This record gives sequence, structure tokens and C-alpha cells, in this order.
Amino acid sequence: MKKFLDKRGSFGSRFGAIVAVGGSVVGLGNIWRFPYLAGENGGGAFIIAYILISFSVAVPIMLAEFGIGRSVRRNAKRAFQKLAPGKGWKAIGYLGIATAFVILSYYCVVAGWALNFLKQAALNQFEGKNILEINQQFNAFISSGWSSLFWTWTFIAATGIIVYLGVEKGIERYNKIFMPLLVLILIILVINSFTLPGYEKGFSFLFKPDLSKINGEVLLKALGQSFFSLSLGMGAMITYGAYIKKEENLFHIAGTVSITDVSVAILSGMAIFPAVFALGINPTSGPELIFITLPNVFQQMPGGYYVGVLFFILVFFAAITSSVSLLEVVTAYISQEMRLGRKRASIIATLGVVLTGSLCVISQTPESTLTLGGKNLVDFCNDFSSNYMLPIGGFFIVLFAGWVMKPEIFQSELTSKGVFGKHIYPIVRFLIRFVTPIVIALLFMDLTGLI
Ligand code: TRP
Repeated sequence: MKKFLDKRGSFGSRFGAIVAVGGSVVGLGNIWRFPYLAGENGGGAFIIAYILISFSVAVPIMLAEFGIGRSVRRNAKRAFQKLAPGKGWKAIGYLGIATAFVILSYYCVVAGWALNFLKQAALNQFEGKNILEINQQFNAFISSGWSSLFWTWTFIAATGIIVYLGVEKGIERYNKIFMPLLVLILIILVINSFTLPGYEKGFSFLFKPDLSKINGEVLLKALGQSFFSLSLGMGAMITYGAYIKKEENLFHIAGTVSITDVSVAILSGMAIFPAVFALGINPTSGPELIFITLPNVFQQMPGGYYVGVLFFILVFFAAITSSVSLLEVVTAYISQEMRLGRKRASIIATLGVVLTGSLCVISQTPESTLTLGGKNLVDFCNDFSSNYMLPIGGFFIVLFAGWVMKPEIFQSELTSKGVFGKHIYPIVRFLIRFVTPIVIALLFMDLTGLI
């Protein structure tokens, strides 16, 4: 971030703000989580629900977070303390920190899968293997314990070192090159997927929605995915908002970031599903979907070796800029609460994630009896953080922005004192006050069987 910060500690330009926020939002959520959820929840139906929710519910929350953060120029917990002193609102900050921790615990495990994939691709270990063998190879890796632990730790260490050294800003500047490159490779993969036999099936799965598949559960999963992918509901965007200059157009930033994020997710789906169908892989395979599909794609395409290696280097990069933004939140909290220097705080935070991340890995081995709610810990942390923790956090954040914060302050912040969004602001305000909280509440009521 620092590269883009000026003397007053703000992003130097709108572009700088977009690049930094983009680093947090584009990650495994787009490339790994979106495709497998779409596969499990009816393909096109899920995509429609996802797009609708992203722009009617999630983007207003992003604007609310930016507005809160920029109005007081503080991180989540302190922002609430300052805007509503003595009241219970700072609990949202605590919830956010807990959420960051739960996400990190399994995010590092999945990033470890990506690192292992990178190693296998680089050493040509997929060569000549059929789908069944690749599937077995993946399962053997997950059940191995040690190998999975090794890559999980490697990823956590890399994240921890970046936060410890405080060089996340230096790394973010590479987003400018790596993110467009990632999009480019995705586009190449999409083009390649047109050459696969039976690719039409994959495309009609994605783009010919069967609307009867949309139900409360699908909507809740789409909601969770929107929150996760756009890094919302835990105050991360409050912190970024604090660095955005007062004269910058927040609508423009939120719009660009969200369109980019949704596009990367859909491109990733388009890159994968034609292959899923062409190869006869089950679209409801779950979290392993991209890991069992892509090796076959890279094998079949000309220059696939290089594309595969480069693609997973970029996935690793996208993942680490996201995990850094999560570990930052936990580190800042430990440093404030325990009155420790940032470096020590980052060590404690990292060790905490090593512990919970390891438990997640262990819970996936066949001998393990570690489960929560009938799931292994990776699945539990994954589902619980996105489907419950983030939407609940988001619910209170919009209630705060829409009903507690002084309307004049909020309006002046979002519109940069009336300069931007004259026509959009009233719509956003309406979405924040009514639509967003009501949609979240209804989905939760549906889930718990209240309605
Ligand atoms: N959005 C990131 C991804 O898609 C994950 C992430 C980073 C995140 N920071 C966050 C999710 C804060 C929720 C909240 O991979």
C-alpha cells in the first residue's frame, strides 16, 4: 500500500486505491471458491443470484465500509468507538477480527494446495495421468497430512514474513502487472476451452440458468460468496476506506473493484466448466474441483506446461495479497490490545494461524476425528465464515451506516461533500437502509426455518 500512499498517508491516486483494494478482493475466492460453488448450486442459477446479490447487497456494503472508514480514518474497531462511543458497536470490530482468524485458518490450507499444485506442475508430475489418477493423486495429498502441512506452513510463513517485515506495500505494487496477467491467462484458458469436445455443455451449464434451482439456500451461498470475494463484512474495507483521499470518488472505486472481481470469478468459471463437462468430472465435486480439472486442461493445451506453472504462480500471488490483508487485521488488533510492537504482534498472529491451520489440515486426514458440525475443519471454517460470520458482520455494518451514523456525515463522506453521485447516492442510501439488511435478515430467517 505504501507505494501508493502520499505524505498524508492516503493512496496517491484513484488507481493506487483500486490496485490496493483489488489485491485484497481478488484471490482464491474468485478462482477456487466461485467455480466449485457454482458447480454445486446449479451453475447459471447460482451465477444470476451471485450477480444480483453482488450489485444490490454487496456493493452498498462496500460503500458503507468505505464511508465509515474514510469519515474517521481509523480501522474497524476504533472507527466504531469514535463514531458511537461507549455503545456496543465496537463488538462488530471484534467479530471482524474473529472472522479474519477463522478465514485465515483454512485459506492457508487451500493456498497450500495451490502451492503443491504449482510444484507438481513445475515437476511435470501430472504428465500422462488420466482423470482418475489425478483425482487419486489429489486425495492422497490431502490425506497425507505431512505434505499438506508442509505447504500450509510454507504459505503461512510467507504471509507472516510479509506482515512482519511490513513490506506488503512493496508487494502490492506488483498487482499492477500480475492482476492483468492473471486475467489474460484466464482469457486464454477460456478460449482454449472452446476447443474441447462438448464444450457447449459447460457453457450452457453456466449461461442457461434453470431458475427453479434458486432457493433460500442457493441465495444464502451466493450472499456468502459475494461477501467473501469482495472482502466484506469484517471491516477490511473500513481500513482501506481510511486510506482513500477525501476528494476521491468512492462510487467509482467500488464500481471498478466489484466489476473486476465479479468478472474474474465468471472468467474462472468459463475456464473450468467446459473442461469439467468434456472430461466427465462431476460439477458438484466441491472444493477440489479446480485441482482435479486443471491438470487435464494444461496437459491437453499447447504450451500447457508453461501456462500451468505461470497460472499457479499468479494464483499464489493473488492468494497472498488477500491473506496478507487478513493477517494485517489480526496483527493490528493484537498489537493494540496487548500493547505490543507490530513485529511481535505479527509473530503471535502467525503462530496462532499455524496452530489453527494445522488443525484444519489434520482434520482432513482419514484417521482424524476432528469435526465441527459434522464437517472437517476446512469445510467448517470455510462455510461458517462466509455463510454466517461475514453476513452477520455486514448486517450490523449497514445498520450502523444507515441508521446510527449521522446522515449528513455519511452523505458528505460518500459524495465527497456533494461532488459525486448526486443521482446514485439516494439509491445507495435506500439499499443500505432497507434492502441490504432486509435481504440478509430474510435469508437467515429462511435458513433457520423461521419463515
Ligand atoms: N476476497 C479474498 C478472496 O477472494 C479473501 C479475503 C481477503 C477476504 N480479505 C478478506 C474475505 C476480508 C473476507 C474479508 O480470496
